[in-house]
Amino acid sequence: MIKDSISRMYVDRRKALFSKISDGAFLIPSAVEHFRASSVPLDFRQNPNLYYLSGFEEPESFLILLPDSTKKDGYESILFCRPRNATAELWDGERYGIERAKKIFGMDQCFDISELAERLPSIIKAQSKIYYTLGLDEALDRKITTILLQVQSMSGRSGQGLLQIEDPKVAIGEMRLIKSEEEIVLLKKAGAISSHAHIEAMKNTKPGQYEYQVQALIEYHFKDGGCRRPAYNSIVAGGNNATCLHYGSNRDQLVDGQLLLIDAGGEFEYYHADITRTFPIGKKYTQGQREVYEAVLKAQKECIAMIKPGIPYASIHEHASKVLIEELCRLGLLSGDIDHIYDQKAHLTYYPHGTGHFLGMDTHDVGLYSHEGSSKLLEPGMVFTIEPGLYIREDNTDAPEKYRGVGVRIEDDILVTKNGCELLSQVPKEIEEIESLRNQ
Ligand code: GLY
Ligand code: MN
Ligand code: MN
Repeated sequence: MIKDSISRMYVDRRKALFSKISDGAFLIPSAVEHFRASSVPLDFRQNPNLYYLSGFEEPESFLILLPDSTKKDGYESILFCRPRNATAELWDGERYGIERAKKIFGMDQCFDISELAERLPSIIKAQSKIYYTLGLDEALDRKITTILLQVQSMSGRSGQGLLQIEDPKVAIGEMRLIKSEEEIVLLKKAGAISSHAHIEAMKNTKPGQYEYQVQALIEYHFKDGGCRRPAYNSIVAGGNNATCLHYGSNRDQLVDGQLLLIDAGGEFEYYHADITRTFPIGKKYTQGQREVYEAVLKAQKECIAMIKPGIPYASIHEHASKVLIEELCRLGLLSGDIDHIYDQKAHLTYYPHGTGHFLGMDTHDVGLYSHEGSSKLLEPGMVFTIEPGLYIREDNTDAPEKYRGVGVRIEDDILVTKNGCELLSQVPKEIEEIESLRNQ
């Protein structure tokens, strides 16, 4: 859909970026377009950094932002994009084209993307460095390297070497880490739609169904609620499949008496939800399932209760791990001193992953977790998941039989607020609430 105007927020973000950066040009390519055989396009999703700083969603585009002290806001914005083309637009939809893109997206200059290689050397020649993410598109990396060599040769015998390349993950990532009011609205919407989908799955799953049928139901509700796509491959894992952390084939039949772990979230206007619930495929948790579930729930609730500005991010994982170790000892799955088990990492057999990650335009979002060797302290506006779990594989003959083939994860999305935190996902997680839904 072609917009007449875009939110001022994108311009404000560019201004905010250059209020902190005074050297170097940001080179931000669009995401790579992928096709199936025979030119059938796959779903295109813009590079989040490009979208975050411009709102521009077309493929084959390239945003350049560079400091310019002669400009009112201290920077210049240049967009390269596709020109209008009647034949291409007949097949793939309307394009902004050069003139419209310049005006609507508030660019200082806008050029045809086919002119990028020719124009880029003179655009960046006066810069001290470039901010560019290497490794996403090898062909483009080669082009950029050639251009940097060209720029070097333009400086003749001045002695200037190759322009330094810095990953923009600090400059842009640290901005994206703290969510604005507008972003929080979108994250809440993604959370609400995804929570509703999880509740529908919890109400409607039946023994004998296939995992993909539950996936279909949950993804129907994502799209029905306005999400463009799932945020990531939905994990719908019955029984022992839940002990595989990123299980995704979703082809097995659901067996009464086993648990179903669903890890799924929708993407609403580029913002993600990431929610996991684990519930009985039948009506009730067995005794063994209940014990493992309660252990994970205890860890999750205690971690959520800790959240407030100023606490180190790493302390959440440390706390979850220690609660889970204590619980694993209580269940007879581990034995020994809690700190010793923690130091020896013996609990990784049952809890092999971290307790969460930042969440935003990417499911595993940008932002640094530590700074100069110390864990980041929580700040209002940070959004992350809290997702402890325990996984006891069915072939683990060291474990009591009642726990074998049980995988439990409980995952919610958390916004750090001024005084504490707010949950962006709202799906029942107490055993009584879940069993009551399963009995409806
Ligand atoms: N759904 C992927 C994750 O929880 O990290
Ligand atoms: Mn997650
Ligand atoms: Mn997840």
